[in-house]
Amino acid sequence: MHKLITAIGNTPLVETPFQYLHAKLEYLNPGGSVKDRSAQFMINHAEQTGLLKPGGTLIDASSGNQGIATAMIGAAKGYNVIITVSQKVSQEKMQTLKAYGAQVVICPATDFIDDPESYHSVAVNLHKETPNSFMPNQYFNPLNAKAHYTSLAPEVWNQSHGAITHFFAGAGTGGTITGVGRYLKEKNPNVKIIAIDSINSFRATNGNPKPYAIEGMGIDFESPVIDYSVIDEVLTVKDEDAIEMLKSLAKKGFLVGPSSGAVAFAAHRYAQKHMNGSDFGTMIFGDSGRAYLSKGFYEQTTTDFDWAVRPELRHTHS
Ligand SMILES: Cc1ncc(COP(=O)(O)O)c(C=O)c1O
Repeated sequence: MHKLITAIGNTPLVETPFQYLHAKLEYLNPGGSVKDRSAQFMINHAEQTGLLKPGGTLIDASSGNQGIATAMIGAAKGYNVIITVSQKVSQEKMQTLKAYGAQVVICPATDFIDDPESYHSVAVNLHKETPNSFMPNQYFNPLNAKAHYTSLAPEVWNQSHGAITHFFAGAGTGGTITGVGRYLKEKNPNVKIIAIDSINSFRATNGNPKPYAIEGMGIDFESPVIDYSVIDEVLTVKDEDAIEMLKSLAKKGFLVGPSSGAVAFAAHRYAQKHMNGSDFGTMIFGDSGRAYLSKGFYEQTTTDFDWAVRPELRHTHS
């Protein structure tokens, strides 16, 4: 019988209601998101290089999915897990972390990752203080992109039988878009690699970020993981557009999270203008809408959302 973590990957690629666009259902990974791949790769690497030993503690900062993946793998392999999160993280994600047995440290939402109170800074300090601990450090670890180069990218290429012409993914740390982009460019330099960002992110506002609701994506600092040389375009999306798309996708059977709504909105608009003939687009649907039901995205009108009326719900990282 296979171990639980060997079920990571090999997610299906399916048609969507949109012409030219297919969706890779990353929410079908055992931990529920695309981040199972990066967490698994970084933890395996740490075990192989002796950075992580039996009985050790995994520590990371995450707006949810990387933390959930780390907590799931830690639970399966018998490590202690501490995850720092921003206060904006959904209740479902917080409860999920706890259900896996992780210790959750809630930090204030900050505009900048190097703020000493940010969930990233708190994780770095906890890592320094905790003996026999390992921090995958998704924001600064180049293995984040390598994970997706090794695991997600070949699937994306093979499932299109080499026919892919456009790849769309949300960017947070930039690991997904960089890893897959690099692989696809090596296979066929003509494949267009298109990153999706929040219109309010650090990058999109030239360093003056504003609050935004989409969780998991948004380029919120000068990420050393992102390689812009493999990215053809970065498209920005407003919260309202991502959420409207989210609601219509659910009505078509795709109950996905806000980053998938943003990706689908941007990709659909792009496809209408720029795709034709035998073009083949693949979008990453990174996580499931079930992790966000308490936010009311799927029922209410945009003006009623928590994030619009509660200023403390600031922008988030992946
Ligand atoms: C649902 C979802 N989509 C997209 C992303 C962005 O991926 P990356 O950090 O590889 O850029 C994340 C990151 O956590 C995520 O959780």
